[in-house]
Formats: sequence, C-alpha cells, structure tokens
Amino acid sequence: MLMQKDLLTLMELDSKDVAEILSIAEMMKGGMAKARGRRRGRFRLNMARLKDKVFVMIFQKPSTRTRVSFEVAMRELGGYAITLNVSDIQLSRGESIEDTARTLSRYADAIGARVYAHDDIVRLARAADVPVINMLSDLYHPCQILGDLLTIKEVKGKLAGLTLAWVGDGNNVCNSLIIGSTLTGMIMKIACPRGYEPSQDALNFAREHNGYVEIMEDPREAVMDADIVYTDSLVSMGKEAEREERLKVFLPRYQVNDDLIALAKSDAIFMHCLPAKRGEEVTDSVIDGPHSVVWQQAENRLHAQKALLYLMLTSADMRYRYSRRRASRGRSR
Ligand code: CP
Ligand code: NVA
Repeated sequence: MLMQKDLLTLMELDSKDVAEILSIAEMMKGGMAKARGRRRGRFRLNMARLKDKVFVMIFQKPSTRTRVSFEVAMRELGGYAITLNVSDIQLSRGESIEDTARTLSRYADAIGARVYAHDDIVRLARAADVPVINMLSDLYHPCQILGDLLTIKEVKGKLAGLTLAWVGDGNNVCNSLIIGSTLTGMIMKIACPRGYEPSQDALNFAREHNGYVEIMEDPREAVMDADIVYTDSLVSMGKEAEREERLKVFLPRYQVNDDLIALAKSDAIFMHCLPAKRGEEVTDSVIDGPHSVVWQQAENRLHAQKALLYLMLTSADMRYRYSRRRASRGRSR
C-alpha cells in the first residue's frame, strides 16, 4: 500500500490505511520472527527494507513515551533514530524551519517533530523531501491515536460501533481521536466546558466522512453507558500560563473518578495518553483501578509506530523508485 508522504493530523489516512497499520502492528507485537516475511492478506513484510534507515526527531517540548517508543521502534526495525532537542540545533538560533528540513532530508529517511505551533510541522513537511511525522503539536497527536486504536481493538475485539466518551479539554489528543473514531466507525461523545471544544477542522472532517461526534457540557451524559472513557491533562504543554484558570473551569466537574466511571458500562475501559496529573483530571482509584488500560496503551505506542514507520518508509522508497523510473524514461525518449 502506498501511503501519503506525511502524517500530520491523521486526516492523511483512510479507513483502509488505519486497518492496515493496526494489522501490521498486531503482527509485529506478536513477534518480529513471526512478522518477518510472513504473508497476511494483501501484504508481506520485508524487514530488510528498513535496514539502516535513519529517523531524525526534533523536540521543542518534553517527551517520555513518544521519544523512547520511536527510538526503540527504529532500533527494532533495523534502523536507528537520532534525537535532537531543539536547543541543541541551529533552529534555536534562527535557522529557518525550511532550511532545517532541506538539510535533514539529505541525511535522514524520515523526520519527526514535536512542536508548539502546528504550522511549524506543516512548514517542515512542505520543505522536506522525506516523510514527516507529527509527534504532537498544539492541534494534533496522530501517533497517540494509532496506539490507542490498537489498544481498544485488542481489549474489545473491535472498533466499529463502540462509544468513546471524552471528558475534559477538547485538545490535540481529542482532535486526532475524532479523526481516528471517524475512520474506524466509533461513536464519540465529548464532554467539555464551553470555550474548550475541539477544533472545527477535526469536526468538519467527521461530518464530511459520516463520523458520529456529539459535544456536550455534562460529563455524566457523555460517560453514560460508554465502552471507553478517555481523559487527558487539563493543562497541555504550552498552556501553563492558563493553569489556575483552567483548574477553576474544569474541576471538580470534569475529573474522572469512581462516581463518574460507574456510569459507564461495567466492562468499560479507562484510557489516558499520559502523562497524568493524578488528583486533577483523574483519581488514583481510576487510573490504578480495574477499568484502566493505560500501561497497555503506553506500550502500544511502540507497536503502532513500528507499523507506521514500516509503511511510511517503504512507501517513500516506492515513490522514489517510481520517480527515477519516470525520469529515466523521459531521458530515453
Ligand atoms: N503520550 C505521550 O505523547 O507521552 P509523552 O509526552 O511522554 O511523549
Ligand atoms: N494534551 C497533552 C498531551 C501530552 C501527551 C499535551 O499536549 O501536553
């Protein structure tokens, strides 16, 4: 399968792409030995294609899971990752994003970046010759959602028809989750205070692709009979100056606690992208309780990203071979 060059929001994928990523991730999680050269459906994994590939990652913000899971993913695929803190590179001294992208494209097979402003990753992708992966921006967190979909599928055995209740800030994770739910046929009920709704672009995507998204203020209404209850920090990276104000707006109403989760189905799962602020958006009793799948969810970042890197890097190779063939045909005419 040929994927689009970049992954910036999740809107670059269609339902088939998501199904394929999850399928490859499941195979990879089942064991590299089994995945190597194994046929399944239309595709065959050829791990040799990833040998010595280089993935360069730029971080404007801190990260534990994203950074480590991508580094391990590249290593397990036979390539390697180079991690750059933005303060270590010339970007921090005024070199443009475009010039950084052009330079890194000459060394790396793909570039990942975690940025404050989403526009930075758009500019990076536009100027880079190699695939660019958004490792979180203020607006989207697509890689998180691929791991989350893998987790839900593992635990529930399916995705289509499930109801996911989002409680809290309509943030970057919520936006990509709206796209992911739409592509997999999940119903999303979002409970957030007025002024903290998800992005209009994500909602438009859902509307244009027959997604089912409902926005409401009451968390109890959203969580009622849900299969999945998901929350995230009330103060995302970059929003620290709004901390006091946000805690006043969100708490105590939007905290996922025992009383709230009791309204969901008895076999509902609790999800959180992490890091969690225990005692704010979620209580210890919920995150450490029987509904929680947060550690499985964190692990699945690794497996989903391995599948994503496999497909993006092999697609980039195919595009490159195709463009060379076209160029040489042009010359022979
Ligand atoms: N969920 C997530 O992206 O975690 P990190 O900020 O630790 O990478
Ligand atoms: N919404 C959070 C997600 C962290 C992984 C943030 O942007 O800080």
